Amino acid sequence: MACYLIAGASGYVGSRLAERLLAAGQRVRGLVRNPDTLMVERLAARGMTVWIGDLTRPASLVGIADGVDYVYNLTSRSVLENGSLQRTYVDGNQHLIAACSRARSVRRYIFTSNLAPYGDCGDRLVTEDTPVAPLHPLAEVMVAAEQTLLEAARQHRFPAMILRCASLYGPERDPVQAVADGIATIYGNGRNFVAHIHIDDLLEVLLALPSYGQPGAIYNVGDDHPMRLLDFQGEVRQRLGMVPPRTVAPAAALAAGIDPTIVGMLSASVRLDNSRMKHDLPLTLRYPSLMDWLDERLPVAEELSLVV
Ligand SMILES: NC(=O)c1ccc[n+]([C@@H]2O[C@H](COP(=O)([O-])OP(=O)(O)OC[C@H]3O[C@@H](n4cnc5c(N)ncnc54)[C@H](OP(=O)(O)O)[C@@H]3O)[C@@H](O)[C@H]2O)c1
Repeated sequence: MACYLIAGASGYVGSRLAERLLAAGQRVRGLVRNPDTLMVERLAARGMTVWIGDLTRPASLVGIADGVDYVYNLTSRSVLENGSLQRTYVDGNQHLIAACSRARSVRRYIFTSNLAPYGDCGDRLVTEDTPVAPLHPLAEVMVAAEQTLLEAARQHRFPAMILRCASLYGPERDPVQAVADGIATIYGNGRNFVAHIHIDDLLEVLLALPSYGQPGAIYNVGDDHPMRLLDFQGEVRQRLGMVPPRTVAPAAALAAGIDPTIVGMLSASVRLDNSRMKHDLPLTLRYPSLMDWLDERLPVAEELSLVV
């Protein structure tokens, strides 16, 4: 029985990963900032050891990785203020790496980055070797966080792996609902490629990495068929009987005060190549394309009966 540490155990991905590991009889230690939530109480009742701490406060991490085999850093910040992003992703990884190095038991360290480091790549396929080209504050912070891990891997053989994760969806992260609710804005002409990954497929990736992932590697984590944003939203709106989507010029959005990171993330084109992930990990994606999921979520035959 191995011991897993999950930073961000109360989050969307972290809580589901913890459930899967506990169900498989593994030992799980969950780093949480606030233990008094239903989610944390539920995981604790199922056997998760709760470690109360904060990645930005190294004193709260002393001993956190002792006896741990595998570490997942799945923390995330929704506040886009630069200092906060830097403290969570860059300093947070540094503090957790230090705790893991002291523990001497950690065999793999997995960090979930995103696609922001790639910038805007147009129509070309984007592999892990595509040079980074950050275009907004979150992207710059992510590049710095990744650099921290890559340097630790290079200089100290620290067993880090970086996942550049596509846009995540699944229950409670429903792209159809976002369109129906009118909150799925298109910045730019919508011809940008967006890669997606369903939560169930991401969990399979996370579970396979300790055994099959290469230390020091970066993995693009996305499905087989990145889609142009306009194509997906147009299809959803058609099935919902809505008018075609409106687009907003990025310059107008910025002038209206929308955060540059939000505009940058939503208007960038990243046609993600997932070959390395599929080569190294024994995976069969449950949803190779967002359209496979859409056909389940909003079957064409039922589209007209759906009440929005
Ligand atoms: N969602 C996506 O589309 C997407 C795409 C690409 C990559 N990712 C990455 O996937 C990972 C998981 O995302 P998610 O959607 O599960 O995020 P989430 O639901 O927002 O959960 C984030 C977790 O991080 C914890 N956290 C934040 N700051 C922390 C700190 N300083 N110390 C300790 N814990 C802290 C939060 O704890 P509290 O409950 O205390 O706030 C929460 O449990 C993240 O690394 C994210 O960047 C997500």
